[in-house]
Amino acid sequence: HPTLRVRRAALRGTPGYGGDPQPLRVESRPFATYGSALHVHLPQPLRAGQLLSLEIDYEAGEGPGVCWLAPEQTAGKQKPYMYTQGQAVLNRSFFPCFDTPSVKCTYSATVQVPEGFTAVMSATSWEKQKDNTFVFKMSQPIPSYLIALAVGDIVSADVGPRSRVWAEPCLIEAAKKEYDGVIEEFLAVGEKLFGPYVWGRYDILFMPPSFPFGGMENPCLTFVTPCLLAGDRSLADVIIHEISHSWFGNLVTNATWGEFWLNEGFTMYAQRRISTEVYGLAYTCLEAATGRALLRQHMDNTGEDHPLNKLRVVIEPGLWGVNPDDTYNETPYEKGYCFVSYLAHLVGDQSKFDAFLQAYVNQFKFQSITADDALGFFLEYFPELKEKGVDSIPGFEFDRWLNTPGWPPYLPDLSPGEQLMKPAEELAELWAADNLNVEVIEAVDITAWRTYQLVYFLDKILQKSPLPEGNVERLSKMYPKISKAQNAELRLRWCQIILKNNLEAEYGKVKDFLHSQGKQKYTLPLYRAMWGGSEAARALAMETFSATAPQLHVNVQNYVKKILGLEVAE
Ligand code: BES
Ligand code: ZN
Repeated sequence: HPTLRVRRAALRGTPGYGGDPQPLRVESRPFATYGSALHVHLPQPLRAGQLLSLEIDYEAGEGPGVCWLAPEQTAGKQKPYMYTQGQAVLNRSFFPCFDTPSVKCTYSATVQVPEGFTAVMSATSWEKQKDNTFVFKMSQPIPSYLIALAVGDIVSADVGPRSRVWAEPCLIEAAKKEYDGVIEEFLAVGEKLFGPYVWGRYDILFMPPSFPFGGMENPCLTFVTPCLLAGDRSLADVIIHEISHSWFGNLVTNATWGEFWLNEGFTMYAQRRISTEVYGLAYTCLEAATGRALLRQHMDNTGEDHPLNKLRVVIEPGLWGVNPDDTYNETPYEKGYCFVSYLAHLVGDQSKFDAFLQAYVNQFKFQSITADDALGFFLEYFPELKEKGVDSIPGFEFDRWLNTPGWPPYLPDLSPGEQLMKPAEELAELWAADNLNVEVIEAVDITAWRTYQLVYFLDKILQKSPLPEGNVERLSKMYPKISKAQNAELRLRWCQIILKNNLEAEYGKVKDFLHSQGKQKYTLPLYRAMWGGSEAARALAMETFSATAPQLHVNVQNYVKKILGLEVAE
């Protein structure tokens, strides 16, 4: 990305080089589509073990990793905002770095911002000094992608003994109300299961609506979409997910983006372990079932044999290789979850597997590892399983899990969620009938259903869509709780149903939803559905994209352009 302007590099206070910074010859060589390598020419060779202090003077401008928002793109619409998003390989446009998850380091930063703005970072400590200058220090080694900065008109409120929420003033009340008193419970359960929380604080920053992810696990300070402000804590699974990265991802890190599942698959497993302790097995299985539906949709979209549908992908520019940003799909998450669940199944005893996870974190904390390291440790930890050759059971070989695309060979049993899923399945069945049995339908009371039960119901409706003529209109009238929902997960499904049934009268809802937020996992499925639909749906896609493109993250913009067959600038 042509976004860092290096002005000067110098060696400072380095033994043998004297006190004054010595200027160095620097050169920036273009490297594929992933930015430029910075080459620094040392005047004389260094001896092994000799310490080197390199000073680089540079400027970061427009870049995929650094997002500059105009006031209209914020919730308050009064002041501009800036934030960085490093994962996967975007931080190279923020600062010169070894931009690979295989290297970890501590960092410190001094950030001066204009009056009326506050800076926050993923750091273990911070201090405000005079002239609106903030000094940050991260005292634990982390990979480059976890260094994050946000600057805006933001304020904070405490929600627990080691947690506060940050948000624009107009959202702070809602943010506090959403998570007051619950974060500590998630952290405590995480510590009980996986060992000490090493990061000191766990704070949450509510981002402007165009933030492309549900959440980003920047250490000490998770960044989240404001869509989580549902008013009823129903989307807390995202917070539990990001908290789980405190052990899986942030402490034990995938050494390459080709094994991203080590971060996300283990985190999904950890998330559902915490969820099981807090909300019970039935609810957690229901949530996992909606995850499985997403994996099904993803594999149907891409084709099971797509190279992205392997846990271990080849990161390469070009045709058969994969761009690290493209690994953000359901396979590392949900197939990864199935693989970790399979390992637990091999062990056969939850408490033994929990103990293994804790030992795994302890073994590899502050390191970056490969799947071979992880699986090698698993077999070492359970020698009786190694002896039995569990890594090569026909059809379930570890090698097959890692290197064969397609549907997971093992699926964890989600039947404990049946009590919540069955009623939703039956109701969806009723709504798919040619002649609606209104009496039976009206007898089903959904007023007490949890959000994820409604999500599961809507996924079933979507699978059965298009429904017979008129049914979706009836459904919409019968359940305003769904068709007029403010909850983003419900809105996404409702919009998908509108499009799959081509309800032109309801297109306004799709448009409103896409104007209200820019999360990638909401945006892309809707553009795919519009582009695969009628002429009117395609026109809606074009019209909505031209109106909202400037407020989308550039990666999301480019993915939408690909879907719509528009030119993507390299
Ligand atoms: N680390 C990811 C977000 C991410 C992945 C950013 C790859 C950039 C590249 C984060 O932990 C995540 O997975 N968020 C999910 C949460 C969900 C699985 C509960 C999201 O944003 O939807
Ligand atoms: Zn994650």
